[in-house]
Amino acid sequence: MKKTLSVILAVLFVLTLTLYGAGESSAALKVGVSMPTQSLQRWNQDGSNMKRQLEAAGYEVDLQYAGDNEVPLQVSQLENMISGGCKALVISAIDSGALTTVLGEAKAQGVSVIAYDRLIMNSDAVSYYATFDNFKVGVLQGAYIRDQLKLDTEKGPFNIELFTGDPGDNNIIFFFGGAMSILEPYIKSGKLVVKSGQVARDQAATPSWSTEKAQTRMENLITSSGYGPNGTKLDAVYSSNDSVANGITNALVGAGYTAENFPVLTGQDCDLTSMKNILAGRQSMSIFKDTRALAAQVVKMVDAILKGGKPEVNDTKTYDNGTGVIPSYLCDPVFCTKDNYKTLLIDSGYYTENQLR
Ligand code: BGC
Repeated sequence: MKKTLSVILAVLFVLTLTLYGAGESSAALKVGVSMPTQSLQRWNQDGSNMKRQLEAAGYEVDLQYAGDNEVPLQVSQLENMISGGCKALVISAIDSGALTTVLGEAKAQGVSVIAYDRLIMNSDAVSYYATFDNFKVGVLQGAYIRDQLKLDTEKGPFNIELFTGDPGDNNIIFFFGGAMSILEPYIKSGKLVVKSGQVARDQAATPSWSTEKAQTRMENLITSSGYGPNGTKLDAVYSSNDSVANGITNALVGAGYTAENFPVLTGQDCDLTSMKNILAGRQSMSIFKDTRALAAQVVKMVDAILKGGKPEVNDTKTYDNGTGVIPSYLCDPVFCTKDNYKTLLIDSGYYTENQLR
């Protein structure tokens, strides 16, 4: 009898421990996800992918978008996440250099920080970085222009103008740098001509990656250099992403360009507007960055960190944020045109054909 009782007690003890253990791991830890804006399609996708995948891994998620790229709002949302008990923060910074103070607080509270897509500068609170290979994005874009204009075999010269993104976004150093690593030798040799003379990164920048600002700058370039289907020939426009390319497309269409004579125009993100433009001949290519893959990688990182493990990284050299190199995981970007979009975007379930109509 005594023996049976002690067996029952032992079983109860084990059961309690198991239940407590399970209860503890499902008393979900909270993760804060801070995205820069809801006004661009890609960040909505990133935000919802992250939330869905983190929840599926058993975490509670506080997902916030900082209005339309509002830095003070992003800072206060992060403050709330820290005081609200988040154990890890996944952040895509609006201004890569503006989070030092608030992340000091995160570090003091023992909250882990992962920089998402954009490196966060000047903060030793950042423990990991997950992104796409940003330099490769620029190289793919630059190489596309080189190949389309056949810069190595044609005589030229060819006219080009250059557009990149927000000056506070650390990624533009890599996008623009990667593209220039291909294009600069041709600019130096005179085969590519930038009539506006605006070749430096800060001259090519587009605040907030704004479609409207890109459109205005392209309209001004059209006026000042006389570009047009019947005017000075414009052979190519380098754009670091789709939101900027959309403004350039608007200006070029406004100046009378059609699919028949449209300049080579690059982009990035495979946003719906750009994919429709690509199919209609009003943009040449985009870069496909499968945000589902990035989110999956970051969820694995969060999970490893919060369980006391070591996240997988594949780059420990490239991304120094001013406090040292941040161990990074780089996903692979690929270029997308009207010739391969079906395999990349439709077959993979990223979009349906209907969305592109
Ligand atoms: C991202 C791009 C995006 C851009 C504008 C960059 O930091 O890497 O994918 O197009 O921000 O939102």
